[in-house]
Amino acid sequence: MSVPFADLQLQYRFIKREVDGAIAAVIRDNAFIRGPYVDAFEQQFADAVEVKHCVSCANGTDALYLAMAALKVQPGDEVITTAHSWISTSAMITHAGATPVFCDTDGWTFTIDPAAIEAAITPRTVGIIPVHLYGQPADMDLIMAIARKHKLWVVEDCAQAHLARYKGQQIGTFGVAATYSFYPGKNLGAMGDAGAVVTNDSALAERMAMLARHGGLVKHQHRIEGINSRLDGMQAAILSAKLPHLTAWTRARQDAAKIYDAGLNQIEDVVVPSVAAERSHVYHLYTIKHPRRDALATHLAASGIQTAINYPTALPFLAAYSRLKHRPEQFPNAFRDQSRILSLPMFAEITSDQQNEVINLIRTL
Ligand SMILES: Cc1ncc(COP(=O)(O)O)c(C=O)c1O
Repeated sequence: MSVPFADLQLQYRFIKREVDGAIAAVIRDNAFIRGPYVDAFEQQFADAVEVKHCVSCANGTDALYLAMAALKVQPGDEVITTAHSWISTSAMITHAGATPVFCDTDGWTFTIDPAAIEAAITPRTVGIIPVHLYGQPADMDLIMAIARKHKLWVVEDCAQAHLARYKGQQIGTFGVAATYSFYPGKNLGAMGDAGAVVTNDSALAERMAMLARHGGLVKHQHRIEGINSRLDGMQAAILSAKLPHLTAWTRARQDAAKIYDAGLNQIEDVVVPSVAAERSHVYHLYTIKHPRRDALATHLAASGIQTAINYPTALPFLAAYSRLKHRPEQFPNAFRDQSRILSLPMFAEITSDQQNEVINLIRTL
């Protein structure tokens, strides 16, 4: 039995009528850019995330840029983020005009180590971008306490963690703004690129919306210089069709994680994901650690089991950051993990038979 890493076709088959209807409605109404479907999704997503404003945009990378540009990040500023993430998190710090300052992860949740944040703060630090990596919230109490103490803003990168909670509070509501990706494979995914930034700050929301729409909200009234980063009507309508399913899909991912946990826990050499107390993990990715990661991936691939490495090189060690001259001993956890992590097939519709196949094959390495 082969097992895909994710199965978007299967998801589509379950909700075909809703998705096809949404696409047809956008075509019928000629509502390709902005319009009622985008407005509706922004309101629905703001409600789902329990915030006042949702500013939709073209993707989760732009969402990070829009947040930082609206916060008026300046050349010379430093923004602290995690060593273990997708490159968008740090690349947008640079594109917004600042310098990314990396911190190591805590060694057990794959999220940024709050103690490392304290140590990285300088007089130039303006903000912190924690990433709720793989779907597990970062330690927001400690991060917010550090931010308050040093008068820094916090923008949460929620690209992998839709609807996750920290101590009962929805992530995305701790910082001044939070960014989301709706890349197709995400827990809430469009059928193309899509993203959003959310906030409870009305002035910030307006500025981010202006920046995303050529610097103005009224045609030909460009109050500032912006970019073109719009969510299109088709993607908005598809996301609105999918959003009502997100809670059930999240629960299905969490149930699937329990099956993996139970099956893999007894296998020597496998370290299953640790979830900190009072954090709900939404398992965008189910990532284990294994000392012979590459051999395991090859062994699984030989039997048709797809896996992924998220990510093979930690951010400080990418060629894109060679200018910062980072050394492995500065980020020991992120450095060690990059050669041990392996993400297993994980999607809401995965069956226990598929999971048992994966577990049994891991046992036979
Ligand atoms: C942690 C993180 N941040 C940002 C992004 C960027 O999102 P997008 O691919 O929609 O630009 C992603 C998604 O790939 C991500 O995983």
